[in-house]
Amino acid sequence: MTPALLPDAKRDVTDLHLPLDRAAGRLSAQIAAGFRAAVRSGRLTAGTRLPSSRDLARDMDVSRGVVVAAYEQLTAEGFLVARRGDGTRIAPLARPDDPGPLPAPESGASPNSFPCAGADDAHSYDLSPGNPDLSGFPRDRWLAAARSALRTLPHDAFTYPDPAGVPALRAELAGYLCRVRAAHADPGRVVIMSGVAHGLSALVGLLKADGYTTLAVEDPTSVRQLPMLAAGGVRMARVPVDREGLIVEELARTGARAVLVTPAHQYPTGVVLSPARRAQLIAWARAVDGVVIEDDYDAEFRYDREPVGCLQGVDPDRVVLLGSVSKSLAPALRLGWAVAPPALAERLRVHRGHTDLGAPVLEQHALAEFLRGGAYDRHLRTMRRRYRARRDALADAIRAHVPGAVVQGVSAGIHLYVELPRGCDEDRVVEAAARAGVSVAGARPMRSPARADAAAPALVLGYARLGEARLVKAAELLGQAIVHGARG
Ligand SMILES: Cc1ncc(COP(=O)(O)O)c(C=O)c1O
Repeated sequence: MTPALLPDAKRDVTDLHLPLDRAAGRLSAQIAAGFRAAVRSGRLTAGTRLPSSRDLARDMDVSRGVVVAAYEQLTAEGFLVARRGDGTRIAPLARPDDPGPLPAPESGASPNSFPCAGADDAHSYDLSPGNPDLSGFPRDRWLAAARSALRTLPHDAFTYPDPAGVPALRAELAGYLCRVRAAHADPGRVVIMSGVAHGLSALVGLLKADGYTTLAVEDPTSVRQLPMLAAGGVRMARVPVDREGLIVEELARTGARAVLVTPAHQYPTGVVLSPARRAQLIAWARAVDGVVIEDDYDAEFRYDREPVGCLQGVDPDRVVLLGSVSKSLAPALRLGWAVAPPALAERLRVHRGHTDLGAPVLEQHALAEFLRGGAYDRHLRTMRRRYRARRDALADAIRAHVPGAVVQGVSAGIHLYVELPRGCDEDRVVEAAARAGVSVAGARPMRSPARADAAAPALVLGYARLGEARLVKAAELLGQAIVHGARG
């Protein structure tokens, strides 16, 4: 560990002791983690000016690019603000809190030796969004984790579980989410849920009982969630999304005090909530005594840089983080989590106790083992490489073969949001593509009726399940379908 001392001459810079383990790699991530911990512990307070990237790089004996990357990451997360002429400071919304656990095991990848049968037939191309590459499920490693759990669990483990989840999994997840998502998590805040959907339904019920009768929802959004929210009996207020994510000024106009957002990778537009909007959103939540439900959608899959840390890490008292393994492993597992302030986590635990007595124990232990042994990290690294190649291939092919189409969103996730030329009729494109053997989803059903006509027609293309060559062929067919069959 090499402590870095900043020059005393800079009056408004506290001495920083940023731990750096050169053998562990990812120096910019380590520096970012050090800053977050310093903010949370209260060592660095809002408004504190940081040294220039050049000075800090010199002090820490790292290249300037490493510090620039760490500063950019923290700025994107809302921990830092950078202004021309004023340098970089700790953001006004950054608050001290308890430090979370950090460091990370690193391990190498191994191939999946259990490919799944039942691939698409040669003439159909399923680009409907919503699924990861199901053939990539790490069957061998999952089996090993499940076997290990079965071998080692005592008989008593086969009774009804703690409805909040087995302690081993809650502890592993807390560590993982602190390390990888910059969350503020400890086992007492983590409640195991059957996916984000379950977490959302449960939360909406609890919040409604507390008087949060309106839930603001992004526009466009995932259509799958709308019936769940409607079933929860809350009124929905749709809030438009632009290139910076949710428009917080519009949110404020709805009168809602609870909002559901996808900050890491908005579904379906693929934009990331900008640093300014993150700050606005937290400020809004504090001003209205509100709650932010953060659907950490696609956070595992960012290809061009480190993923932006979760919003929950910025204000753990106002933000409830929801996540699952549905996209990272498989939706079939139905395993997810909520990270909530302790009192709300306890209410979620009681809710599970009163509704279904908890999640399946063996699967929870298998996932705990999967995380503990580094298999989850390895799997994610493998899938990231695979998805990145697929995304690049499809995006390039769309540009080459679909005239006038514009690929939107950042390099992340398992779907592409493709805006079509204004003259296109989205429904006819979807139909013409289907006739050509390509299943795609239109974005129109994901928008509120009020905004359906204002936005450009668009397609949402899931690319996780097809290899590059088939994606290129699908884009060619899509281009032909648009040119010959679907001009409005
Ligand atoms: C944006 C978004 N969040 C969450 C979910 C639900 O995920 P889970 O399988 O974790 O319930 C979906 C489902 O497709 C989704 O589209």
